[in-house]
Amino acid sequence: MARAKVMHAFRRLCGARQGEVFIRVSTRWKSTESRPTAPLGSRILTNPDDIYKHNMWDHVQWTEEEEKNARLKALQNSEVQIPLREQGKFDTEAVQYWDRFYEIYKGTFFKDRKWLLSEFPELLPSSSVFGGEMDTRHVQQDSNTHFDCNANHQHVCEEALMETNEVLPYPYPGQHASFRILEIGCGVGNSVFPIISSIKENGAFLYCCDFSSSAIKLLKNNPNYDHSVCHGFVHDICEEKGCLPFPRQSLDVILAVFVLSSIHPDRVQEVVKRLSSYLKFGGIFLFRDYGRYDLSQLRFKKGQCLSDHFYVRGDGTCVYFFTNEEVHNIFSNAGLKKVQNLEDRRLQVNRGKKVSMHRVWMQSKYRKPFPCSPC
Ligand SMILES: C[S@@+](CC[C@H](N)C(=O)[O-])C[C@H]1O[C@@H](n2cnc3c(N)ncnc32)[C@H](O)[C@@H]1O
Repeated sequence: MARAKVMHAFRRLCGARQGEVFIRVSTRWKSTESRPTAPLGSRILTNPDDIYKHNMWDHVQWTEEEEKNARLKALQNSEVQIPLREQGKFDTEAVQYWDRFYEIYKGTFFKDRKWLLSEFPELLPSSSVFGGEMDTRHVQQDSNTHFDCNANHQHVCEEALMETNEVLPYPYPGQHASFRILEIGCGVGNSVFPIISSIKENGAFLYCCDFSSSAIKLLKNNPNYDHSVCHGFVHDICEEKGCLPFPRQSLDVILAVFVLSSIHPDRVQEVVKRLSSYLKFGGIFLFRDYGRYDLSQLRFKKGQCLSDHFYVRGDGTCVYFFTNEEVHNIFSNAGLKKVQNLEDRRLQVNRGKKVSMHRVWMQSKYRKPFPCSPC
């Protein structure tokens, strides 16, 4: 009976998602008889009467009407764009706006990312979790997954050969770790602390940076901050000449959670490319961020739009809303190969007020290929 319900909901999912979800639902069902939790949850609304039974429903397909209304709202709220001459400060003074944000909210605004380890098991050295076996559960084989074996591959080979295996002439934090993670735009540590508590005692080390010194101060003052497995530092990821405290090609994982959306869309490509040079071959870039037509995009008022799908909030911080295709282009152009690129469409329900809202987030994983390996 329960299985029939899931299959019914599965038929309502958009085509591209069916393959990905089906693999998980069917394999886990047989083995555990329980619903899978990743990727992107498994609470599927099969009966509209049940809508107020939970606060959130997963894998929600939009009706044509809903798509149309969302486009219209975004068109309306971006009709008037802030004049270019007034826009510069939101980029050049971004750090001040974020500093002020953290001075006001301290550590209370964002919630700990509890989903982090289930959606991104790559954050754990595979040996400690899977007994030394490579974790391939999240490698998806859809038609777009295969790395483009042509000009792009040639480009990756050339770039990879030019990248030298840098050796720093001085000791650096995490130097002796067997597994290294970097979180960019870590804020006050809502992803840092779940990671710290999972990597203790397994030889891994976490670097985490933010350009807001107020955020890094709050992070380091947290009693759960642990110098033995973590190094937090102030760093602007847009800074071309900025110096990072570890060599190139030394990271196993880079994590970007709701940070690339806060920088100017014209800068994102270079940032991802530059950071990717710090990944080892086989290392992975994990990304979660706002998706196009998320509730928070549609809620902007006229006069807050900077450019297409890029807005400034009342506090001066900025936010961009990505599509699947844009995310794919950004990471592929940085020479990385797709492992996962999902749009997480949920229905968030306010049960008290009896209203439901569409949320859209992007969740992606892109791996750095070994140089000149056959595709
Ligand atoms: C929406 S918050 C997300 C914080 C954290 N990743 C989380 O999920 O809770 C965006 C963060 O990115 C940081 N940030 C924005 N632009 C940055 C930049 N150019 N370099 C480093 N950090 C940046 C901000 O200071 C802020 O802490």
